[in-house]
Amino acid sequence: MSLLTTSEILTDDPGAIDACVRCLDGGGLVAFPTETVYGLGADATNAQAIARLYLAKGRPSFNPLIAHVADVHAARKIARFNSDADRLAQNFWPGPLTLVLPKASACNVAELATAGLETIAVRVPAHPFAQRLVAALGKPVVAPSANRSGHVSPTSAAHVRSDLAGKIDLIADGGPTEVGVESTIVGCFEEPILLRPGGVPRAAIEFALGRKLADLPADHGEAQPLAPGLLTSHYAPRAAVRLNATHLEAGEALLAFGSARISGSDRAAVALNLSERGDLTEAAANLFGHLRALDATRATRIAVMPIPESGLGEAINDRLRRAAA
Ligand code: TXA
Ligand code: MG
Repeated sequence: MSLLTTSEILTDDPGAIDACVRCLDGGGLVAFPTETVYGLGADATNAQAIARLYLAKGRPSFNPLIAHVADVHAARKIARFNSDADRLAQNFWPGPLTLVLPKASACNVAELATAGLETIAVRVPAHPFAQRLVAALGKPVVAPSANRSGHVSPTSAAHVRSDLAGKIDLIADGGPTEVGVESTIVGCFEEPILLRPGGVPRAAIEFALGRKLADLPADHGEAQPLAPGLLTSHYAPRAAVRLNATHLEAGEALLAFGSARISGSDRAAVALNLSERGDLTEAAANLFGHLRALDATRATRIAVMPIPESGLGEAINDRLRRAAA
């Protein structure tokens, strides 16, 4: 990724909210303080911006992101609440609690942010700057912790700078964060499950719910939030998926990459290109949407052209291999 100039602004500068909103609206990446840790924000409805975000963080795969919204009303537009979720929102929002819920049918968050899952992680941050920012943008903001993948989460603007300067557009410096650990993540399904311990203690959540939280299996790593089959599975197309296709067979739909044409592609009933100009960031932004669109046709198999392993290519290929498995 080419180097950007990363600007910095203090959160109590009177122009700070405006500058952040303008940047996010333009598809930019803004690091901002929440009460837990600094988040790296992008417009949740803009798949291109989200692809840039994964690239800046150096995420090895498209780990799903948390959508930050201003209040429970905004949360209901993107996620479906059951009674446990209602109760937790009432007790702990705004605050360091993230709920994983089924996506609402009108959810406008880009597929890339939820890594093709049927669920979405939602949080209403309590930090006054984060609050004002998401309210002023008027759209959900996806924000993973603002660190390079594999590093610890940043609790100051200096941490963000040392990990991400030159890779993001703007850092809003609000001093050290208050909570310092990430939000607690609870999945609200038939039974509530603790997906990640964090800023709200388990006991407080169990007290509010009047029952115990289930746990993930002990060997479950953060990198794989939900094992396929446990609560929900990664996006698996109905059609078979054939990788590294160098020719197209009869009846196959084509998922192309780049400007090259493979033999048989002129006969494709349906073809979509992840990025005509061979740009992996653009390809990442289009990946889940294109897969779904091709799967919605009657093709029994989707042939995917080879995609380089560099940059976001590693994550794209990871997801394609899962889709093909
Ligand atoms: O405190 C926080 O939560 C911070 C601040 C910035 O809000 N954010 C944060 O984001 O910690 P991140 O991306 O570093 O961690 C989000 C976690 C990941 O482990 C991800 O796998 C999980 O949330 N997650 C997101 N969507 C999910 C989903 N649909 N199902 C299960 N886990 C999900
Ligand atoms: Mg993180």
